[in-house]
Amino acid sequence: MKLTDPEKAMLDGRDGRAKAKAMELLVRYGEALGAERLVETRNVAGTWATSRFMTDFVARGMDAVYSEFNLDSDEVVATPHAAVSSCQLIAGVDHRNWRIQGVPEEAALAQARAEAFFGARGIQQLATCTPYQVGNVPVRGEHCAWMESSAVVYCNAVLGARTNTEGRESTGAASITGRIPYWGFHMPERRFATHACEVAFPVDDMMDWGLLGYHVGEAVEEDIPVLSGIRHTPSLVKLKHFGAAGASSGGLEMYHIPGITPEAPTREAALGGKAPRERFGYGEAERRRAYENLNASARDRDVDFVMLGCPHNSIEQVWLIASLLDGRKVSASTQLWVHTPSAIRQVADRSGYTKAIEDAGGVVMSDTCPAISRFMPKGTRVTATDSAKQAHYLPALTGVQTWFGSVAHCIDAAITGRWTGGL
Ligand code: F3S
Repeated sequence: MKLTDPEKAMLDGRDGRAKAKAMELLVRYGEALGAERLVETRNVAGTWATSRFMTDFVARGMDAVYSEFNLDSDEVVATPHAAVSSCQLIAGVDHRNWRIQGVPEEAALAQARAEAFFGARGIQQLATCTPYQVGNVPVRGEHCAWMESSAVVYCNAVLGARTNTEGRESTGAASITGRIPYWGFHMPERRFATHACEVAFPVDDMMDWGLLGYHVGEAVEEDIPVLSGIRHTPSLVKLKHFGAAGASSGGLEMYHIPGITPEAPTREAALGGKAPRERFGYGEAERRRAYENLNASARDRDVDFVMLGCPHNSIEQVWLIASLLDGRKVSASTQLWVHTPSAIRQVADRSGYTKAIEDAGGVVMSDTCPAISRFMPKGTRVTATDSAKQAHYLPALTGVQTWFGSVAHCIDAAITGRWTGGL
């Protein structure tokens, strides 16, 4: 791999041991991928503070855990300050509601300690899987180093910024060097569509965008689709759900919608002037199949737990939930958790939405989600969610039955304790 003089200086240890270990990792990783050089990045989204390593933090100290998990280094180095803007993604503990989550006190304290440690070293504690909803909005063409599949596909496709799906170690190294291997989605020629999808069924609401995403992800796996036949301009919320669903059923990291996403002024431009390698469609039968697959684990209609906010809810979604509750109470046999970034929670507090949800008996959660934390209300057997991603992962990760449907179906289940949704 060809390195610049400042990169060679970092590798030689002239900027300290941590940067030397970070450069060693990036060169090793880049060479394994066939990258010929590194590219500068000033936007990193990864994970540093998490109580998952609580026992290690206590027994071995923060620097040892940082060295191993953020730099893949056996040598223990002192944790340096971030060199470029770096934010913490979602973690396992809600800093306000950890007792309701069921998190042990020592884990909550460890999480707080880890956040303070990494915060003091420049890691911005956004604590969400949707950094683009709370101020981290890279511009078109900007090179980023992001983890989290739903964020990666949003970054590439909707914002036109450039990132591969990075890991804990590569984002750790990028944060202190400002470099990431130049390969994959950093390269303009790797961003063109390879597959063409003709959407024949009208797709407008959020549930339908989730179903379409689930079908598209399964069809393309890790390739890049261009969608035709979209008749309504989707919002942030709909594209967030579309990408998250496609990244769950397949490995969707990039897509194009002509006239809507920034690198697709036309279908031809999205395809880079070439013919698509494969074509597929989305109609009523595909929609039904996606719906049935997402509901495959569900049998019992008595719902114990309703989870909304995967990916984390926008303020518009929190407002919608508060409006749909409409002064009614959540059933005594059901719990309602609404997940949103901590920064949006503050807006919800000031706008009265949190109070409306809490008055109904729900909880507004931040910083985490059940799939990441593995914490749900005790005794949960049956869940309901408006998220294709959560419906894909929860049964596999936790063994619970999961109903997938619209946000209105989910609120109805929270109020009545029964699932009555359907296509
Ligand atoms: Fe975010 Fe958890 Fe869903 S990380 S995308 S809320 S599974």
